Amino acid sequence: MNTVLETIKNRRSIRSYLPEQISGDELETVLEAALWAPSGHNTQPWHFLVIQDKKKIDDMSSKTISLMKKSPVDWIQKLASREGYHLFHNAPTVIVISGRKSADPLLFPLADCSAAIQNLLLAAESLNIGTCWIGLSKFLFDVPEEVKTLSLPEGYHPVYSVALGYKKEQLRPTAPARKEGTVGWYRA
Ligand SMILES: Cc1cc2nc3c(=O)[nH]c(=O)nc-3n(C[C@H](O)[C@H](O)[C@H](O)COP(=O)(O)O)c2cc1C
Repeated sequence: MNTVLETIKNRRSIRSYLPEQISGDELETVLEAALWAPSGHNTQPWHFLVIQDKKKIDDMSSKTISLMKKSPVDWIQKLASREGYHLFHNAPTVIVISGRKSADPLLFPLADCSAAIQNLLLAAESLNIGTCWIGLSKFLFDVPEEVKTLSLPEGYHPVYSVALGYKKEQLRPTAPARKEGTVGWYRA
């Protein structure tokens, strides 16, 4: 198997990290990979805020957990109440990905940001750096005063975050099985 396919298949969501910070070079490499993602009309409507301040990361986690506890969705409430749960799994680096709001109905910044995130996750895996895509940060991103604390450029709104760090366990988590019947064919 070529190395790209191998990296795609080997990447797993990592939920246990070493406290040691990843190097600046590694961080630049994964960010550059994100910037090389495709985007609708080549708008590149993304922004990456790198947070490497444990106090801020822990604060974002605990505020999000408080909001999750008030969710009407049972699994979210349960997850938030789980002993030791940390939104970013105690990763030393968190990247907040924001999309530029667009009035054009044919542009989808969320799709562009997601393409960039997948590039970032794969680049990180190729360097043996653990990552986890974090969608639950949406609870925090729905609170305008919290978003303000991130000092994002005008017109951008955070959509997802990614936890990054050296993997605590080198043993890869088992890959979830792939669902059957997700490919159709229409052939002449
Ligand atoms: C849009 C999106 C949001 C996600 N949000 C979270 C999250 O908030 N917390 C978390 O631990 N994992 C999150 N994940 C990771 C998924 O749980 C994970 O990708 C899935 O279980 C498959 O496992 P794998 O990544 O190891 O292949 C998210 C993944 C995606 C694509």
